This record gives sequence, structure tokens and C-alpha cells, in this order.
Amino acid sequence: MSFDFDAVIDRRGTGSLKWERYGGRDVVPMWVADMDFRSPAPVLAALHQRVEHGVFGYAVPPTELVDVIVARMEEKYQWAVEPGWIVWLPGLVPALNVVCRAFGNDGDEVLTFTPAYPPFLAAPPLSRKTLRTIPLRREGGHFAFDIEAFEKAILPQSRVLLLCHPHNPVGRRYERDEVQRVAELCVEHHIVLCSDEIHCDLILDGQEHFPTATLSPEIAANTITLMAPSKTFNVPGLNCAFAIISNGELRSRFKKARAAIVPHPNALGYAACLAAYRDCEDWRVALIDYLRGNRDIVAQCINEEIPGLSMDDVQATYLAWIDTTGLNLPEPARFFEEAGVGLSDGKDFHGPGYVRLNFGCPRETLLKGLDRIKSAVARL
Ligand SMILES: Cc1ncc(COP(=O)(O)O)c(C=O)c1O
Repeated sequence: MSFDFDAVIDRRGTGSLKWERYGGRDVVPMWVADMDFRSPAPVLAALHQRVEHGVFGYAVPPTELVDVIVARMEEKYQWAVEPGWIVWLPGLVPALNVVCRAFGNDGDEVLTFTPAYPPFLAAPPLSRKTLRTIPLRREGGHFAFDIEAFEKAILPQSRVLLLCHPHNPVGRRYERDEVQRVAELCVEHHIVLCSDEIHCDLILDGQEHFPTATLSPEIAANTITLMAPSKTFNVPGLNCAFAIISNGELRSRFKKARAAIVPHPNALGYAACLAAYRDCEDWRVALIDYLRGNRDIVAQCINEEIPGLSMDDVQATYLAWIDTTGLNLPEPARFFEEAGVGLSDGKDFHGPGYVRLNFGCPRETLLKGLDRIKSAVARL
């Protein structure tokens, strides 16, 4: 079966966060992490069917959806998840905040590696926790955990580590031994490990993802895993996500912190999630292929055709983390926006001098954006 990822769909005037930011201006939006593709046909069919029913009362997850997730974890990761370990959420940003609220006292510390997805940086202070950041270090042409710095950052009041695996924005698909070392230190120091694996179905380099919680029984008991169909199947606006928490005590603290504040997913979100996970693997495989093509085009353009810009290989995600320091621009994101390309500003990720480019779009859109970047730099 073939899928048309080349189709350019006009998203202007559809209430799209990504596109409305530049409403009325000629700017190609390549910032927030949603894609410009239509969701797979089975997802659309499931939504049509649910809408056709016409009654939208409070929803619970369909039993089949829970079964599909349990089977998916077993099949992909040989991970025997019990249905009761799944905690439903309307998004993973709320989950990051719930984790920060659930553990420790006011002023205790939450650690994370930077650069980081901005809600990782915002969640601790919003939850009256102190954020402690550990910069990733560059090694062998990519970003990696600085274990020594991580060990030094651990204090008696360290309560939680927010880990992004695979890593937005740097595009790393970490190796087992890297995650294992970090996770073991968390166990040793009684730091709850929150492993955000929202990008786990978007591995581009042909390798397999492994959930942090599958590394050892001790690590499983100390880990809160966050997953969602949203990034992969392009349904982030439908608000359906989940945590997997095997440790009953962690789970009940998480649920208590979530209670009555965080809403449950809605009927459309559940319907889309079920169809995505159950019926769309062929679409996902084709998507990965298309994204790989986009990634290669971005890497070729940035690394070979634009002096002053560089990026690492994107092993996972549809996000390229571009180093602009060679251009000495005072405000790189603004510079590119003025040139007609909307990128995420690295400053917001604690990565000044970088911009993040979302290549989850049809090739025509991608080439237009890259062309504008190239011309803008050539004019400098
Ligand atoms: C690492 C990570 N976590 C969470 C999210 C968003 O979560 P949600 O839309 O489910 O709140 C994103 C979106 O880009 C992300 O990259």
C-alpha cells in the first residue's frame, strides 16, 4: 500500500497552533512538533464512526485499547505490562507536571539534561520544585549524558529525573548502556525516573527502541514511562496519552497528584488511539521512510550547502537541532523568521545559538523552508 506524504494540505484557517502563529505572513512554520500530514485512513475512519454515533458523554478507555497497548508492549519490547499499570492522560505535558507535584516537598530538586523540551524546564518551578539542569556533552559527533556531571548534580534533596528518550530536541536514540547507567544512579539515590518516550515510534536509524523500564526489575520499580500515539500518528490535538507505572506506590502517588485536576482523554482521542495502534503499522513504517528522506535532505543542506550551520545525525524524532553559532547571529530564530521560516528558538530549550527545525512536512514545504534558510545565510 502506498501513502501520499507529498500532498500539501492547506492548514491555514484551521485553528492550527503551528500555522496561526504566522497567520497572514509568508512564513513556513517549522517549529512546534506536529506534522503537516493527514492522519492515517483508519484513524480518520474511526473518528468518523465515533462522530456518527453522535453522543459524546464522559469516556472510559475501550477495553480493546488497553489490550492493544498491552500486546504492543509485549510484541515490541517483550515487556509484560499489566492493564492496571496504565494511567490515562490528556497529554504528556500534564504528566511531567504531575510527576513534579507527586514526589518530594517544596524546594526539592528535579533534574533534567539540557537542551530540553521547554516543559521539562517549566514543570519543576510550576510545581514548587527547584530545577537542576545537567548539560549533555558532545562526544563522537553527538550529544550524550555527562555521567560525571549527573553524579555531581545529585543532592540529598534530588527527587525526580525527567528523561527524554529518545531525546527532543537533539534527536538522540540513546544506547542501552547509556540509559542503564543513568537509571541505576536514580535507583541508587532514590530519584524517581520519569522516562518520556513519546518519540519512541519515530526511530529513524533502523534500530529498536527499548523502554527504560525494561532494563531491570529495580529500574522498572523506579520508573514512570510516558507514551502516546500523538507524535507518530499526528493526533496531538486529540489529547490522548498514558503513563505506565508498575510500582503501585509510585502509581498511587501519581494518580493522587493528578486527581480532579487533570481531565481524562475524550472519546475521540481514545478512538483515534485505538485505530492508530491497532491498524496503522504499515502507515507508520511508510512515514519513517519518508521522514528519513526528509532528514537526509535537511542534513545534506545544512551540513554541506550552508557554511556556518551544522547538525548531528537525527537518529529519532522529526526534529533537527541546528547549530548556528558559526554565523554569530544575535537572535538566530528571529533572523530566520524574518527570512520566512519559523523555527523553534534554542534559547527556550537552554540551547542558545541553536534552532530546532521540524521536518515532519511534505517535501515541497521542506524544500521551500530550506531554500529560504540557505538564501538568508547567503545574504549575510
Ligand atoms: C518529549 C515530549 N514530551 C511531551 C510532548 C507533548 O506532549 P503532549 O502534547 O502530549 O502534552 C512533546 C511534544 O513535542 C515532546 O516532544
